[in-house]
Amino acid sequence: RKKVTLNTIRSMYKKGEPITVLTAHDFPSGHVADVAGMEIVLVGDSLAMVALGMEDTSEVLLEEMLLHCRSVSRAAKTAFTVGDLPMGSYEIAPEQALESAIRFIKEGRVQGIKLEGGIEMAPTIKKITTAGIPVLGHIGLTPQRQNAFGGFRVQGKTSEGAMKVLEDALAVQAAGCFAVVVEAVPQEVAALITKKLSIPTIGIGAGNGCSGQVLVQVDMTGNFPPGRFIPKFVKKYGDVWSESLKAIEAYRDETKSRSYPAKEHTYPIPKEELEKFQR
Ligand code: KIV
Ligand code: NA
Repeated sequence: RKKVTLNTIRSMYKKGEPITVLTAHDFPSGHVADVAGMEIVLVGDSLAMVALGMEDTSEVLLEEMLLHCRSVSRAAKTAFTVGDLPMGSYEIAPEQALESAIRFIKEGRVQGIKLEGGIEMAPTIKKITTAGIPVLGHIGLTPQRQNAFGGFRVQGKTSEGAMKVLEDALAVQAAGCFAVVVEAVPQEVAALITKKLSIPTIGIGAGNGCSGQVLVQVDMTGNFPPGRFIPKFVKKYGDVWSESLKAIEAYRDETKSRSYPAKEHTYPIPKEELEKFQR
């Protein structure tokens, strides 16, 4: 397959072909997403929780994001790669945001960046896109602002709320975003926003009227222990955690019973050499 570029994304959008986006946080998860044919692989700051065990995304540092971006980028041979600007790396001024974005390209080796926010982030998005760095917008529920939202709340559930999400969408489009993530918004609202835009919407918890979808890889592959909270919009397509647990338990049992390693897992030594050694 050919390397996915912004031209690929644009022509898919024109043809109405859904755009598939998945997160990855290291070389193996980037590799499998790439082989599976994801057009965009996103190094989301959700890796704070799913890869680093942090409480929320506010804790992850720019340098930590860069390390993960580098490992995913080495794996994503075909997909277009995007890295999430973490909280604190872009809000102060457009110049700060551009500096962070440049580090993502030069050190993280990704091809574009994502940042959260609507109208208020338009000058920042403009600054970055003008420098030639593709920006993926992110509106609706923006998890980096969970404290201000009073938790993870569906956005656009009132007519004013829906209008606010639409205005944010139009603002990030005008600022130069190549696409925009729309998170946790009623299906009808996201569908109408998609109709009004001339760039792709990438939905998460926003229904099937968007131009594409994005999910967090560990969520959709079921690579988490039972009992973890998973949002309503996640579909669990696999049970990777249970598979890993089964494998590790079998290794434990076979090691305890000495049935592992078996003959086929060992290295031979010529008989004469062994006899000499044993003497
Ligand atoms: O951090 C992340 O994984 C994201 C996607 C869910 C859009 O921002
Ligand atoms: Na994110």
